[in-house]
This record gives sequence, structure tokens and C-alpha cells, in this order.
Amino acid sequence: MAVALARTGHKMPLVGFGLWKVDKPTCADTVYNAIKAGYRLFDGAGDYGNEKEAGEGVRRALKEGIVERKDLFITSKLWNTFHAKEHVKKMARMQLDLWGLDYFDLFLVHFPIALKYVDPAERYPPEWWDAEKKFVTLQDTPMQETWGAMEELVDAGLAKNIGISNCQGSLICDILRYARIKPQVLQIELHPYLTQEPLVAFCKTIGLAITAYSSFGPASYVELNMDRAAPSLLAHDVVSTAASKHNKTPAQVLLRWATQRDIAVVPKSNDAKRLAQNLDCLSFELSEEDMKNISLLNCNLRLNDPADIDPRMAIFA
Ligand SMILES: NC(=O)c1ccc[n+]([C@@H]2O[C@H](COP(=O)([O-])OP(=O)(O)OC[C@H]3O[C@@H](n4cnc5c(N)ncnc54)[C@H](OP(=O)(O)O)[C@@H]3O)[C@@H](O)[C@H]2O)c1
Repeated sequence: MAVALARTGHKMPLVGFGLWKVDKPTCADTVYNAIKAGYRLFDGAGDYGNEKEAGEGVRRALKEGIVERKDLFITSKLWNTFHAKEHVKKMARMQLDLWGLDYFDLFLVHFPIALKYVDPAERYPPEWWDAEKKFVTLQDTPMQETWGAMEELVDAGLAKNIGISNCQGSLICDILRYARIKPQVLQIELHPYLTQEPLVAFCKTIGLAITAYSSFGPASYVELNMDRAAPSLLAHDVVSTAASKHNKTPAQVLLRWATQRDIAVVPKSNDAKRLAQNLDCLSFELSEEDMKNISLLNCNLRLNDPADIDPRMAIFA
């Protein structure tokens, strides 16, 4: 199952594999095995620091003829330190080289936050801070400049589709005012504790496809001590009740809750069994009541907020 992207009609698989925190030493094998297990979409980013290894996994599968390039949907993202127009294409090319690919199916602006340029020869990925991990240095690059450079990636054939991530309604409205090529996909944190109904409704209206990240809510943030002590969604009664009704796991229910509304998901797992389980989440339908009960868990709990790093980055305020 896939979402047809508005401008190109390209089919973006509804379930893909997320690469954030996929361990570098096992990343190539994980990606290769994920392709063998049936995954076709990989959600990477410069910031994840594993593009070279992910690319190795992809290339091994291509070489062995398990898939053709046209069957894969590879997403990557532009990091915050590369928002100036002179850096966007350079970075897309560098990231393509790391993957060993000619084009991305989708390239996203990772955050609507511009940070001071860091030369990749000095430090890559540069993350949020300076070399001492002390200070965040903002840079005055407006989104209009970055978006214009993103459009040039499409012109140059480096990205088939371009999009945004971590953006809210008012910024999206602004981008639409000047976009020659509209964003095709918005990637946002979305799970039953952060259902984002108004943003989802707005995106439907303007034909902007949505990919949910952190579909399991706090699970991904426990290892980072960023889970805000929120109770696990994977162990939540409402979710496990729906799961036992369908003989599925809570993880599969959380993914189906999103995909049943045409919201794509990109679950991450370092475990082969869970990885396979997550892909197998489209073969059942949650009842309207289950959908409603799960959505009622909403408490606007946002786990991934750059304002926690520096209050000047309060993009969700
Ligand atoms: N655009 C952005 O700013 C942004 C931000 C965050 C994430 N993302 C993207 O979204 C992807 C997914 O989000 P995420 O990595 O934050 O979290 P996630 O996929 O919601 O959750 C991953 C966590 O759940 C565990 N898990 C995975 N499958 C499971 C299952 N079937 N049962 C029980 N536990 C399971 C994983 O552990 P194991 O690995 O041990 O299985 C890991 O701890 C990322 O990898 C990344 O590609 C994008």
C-alpha cells in the first residue's frame, strides 16, 4: 500500500523503515535484511550518521538483484547547518555519494531551523551544537532561500520529490506562497499522545502527504532520557485491548492507527523479528471505536522539541 504524491504521482510506501539510531556497525546488514524482509522505503538523514552504511545495505541488495533501484523509495534530509542556498546542493550531492545513489526519491528539510554552517570536512554530522557541545549558533537563513535551493534539487534530478519536516501550519502557508514546487511530504511526530488533528486536516486540504515519526511515542526516547516519564504506549490498555481483538501486537496497532488514515509510518527497529512484525501491519482494520479510543489518548505530549536544547528554537511554541 502506498500514498500517491500529488505533484509527481510517485507512490510512497505507507510503511517504511526508519534509520534514526540504527547502529552503525550493523546498519548495512539491517538495511539489507529489511529489503529482504520486504521493506522498500528507507527514511534516512544526514543527522543519523549512518548514510554510508545504509547505502551499503541498499547496494548489496541491488547487486544481488533482490530489488531494482526503481522499486526502492529512499528518503534523506537536509541538516540545519546547511540551509544557505550555496550549501543545499553540495550537501545533497555529498549525501548521495555516501548512499552511493544518483537520486533521492524524497529529500526533506529536517527542521525549520537554520544553524551556523559547519564544514563537513571538520565535523559530520555536525548535530546541534558547536564542537564542544556547548553552544547552539543560529543563522539568519529564511526558509524561502532554503526552499528555492531545494527546488533546484528537483531541477537537477538529485531529488524526485522534496518536502519538509517539523513544520506547523503558519510556516507551511508561507512556503506555499512562494513555492514553485510545492512540498510533497510533511514528516512530523505523530502518535496517540500527539494526534495533531488540525495539522493533519490542513495537510489533507492542500494535498500534502504526511509521514508520522516516533509512532510508538515514548519508546524511542527512553534510551535518550527524553521520554518525559510518559507511560509506554506499547503497554497501554487501550492499545493492547485493540491488539488482542485482532491477534496483533500493540506495535502493529499503533502503526495501523496511523496508516488507516493514509498517514505513512517509518518504524525503526534494531531487531529482525520486530522489524518484520512492523512491516506486517496493514492486513487488518481497526474498528471506528478502536480508532476513536486510541485517538482519545491524545494529551499533546511532544517528545522531540528543539526548544529543550535551546529556547530560541521553540518552533512548536
Ligand atoms: N523528521 C524528524 O525530525 C524525525 C525525528 C524522529 C524520528 N524520525 C524518523 O522516524 C523513524 C521512527 O521514529 P523513532 O525511531 O523515533 O521511533 P519508533 O519507530 O517510534 O520507535 C523505535 C523504538 O521502538 C522499539 N520498537 C520497534 N519496533 C517495536 C515493536 N514491534 N515492539 C516493541 N518495540 C519496538 C525500538 O527498539 P528496537 O530497535 O530495540 O526494536 C525503539 O526503541 C526514525 O527512525 C526516523 O527515521 C524523524
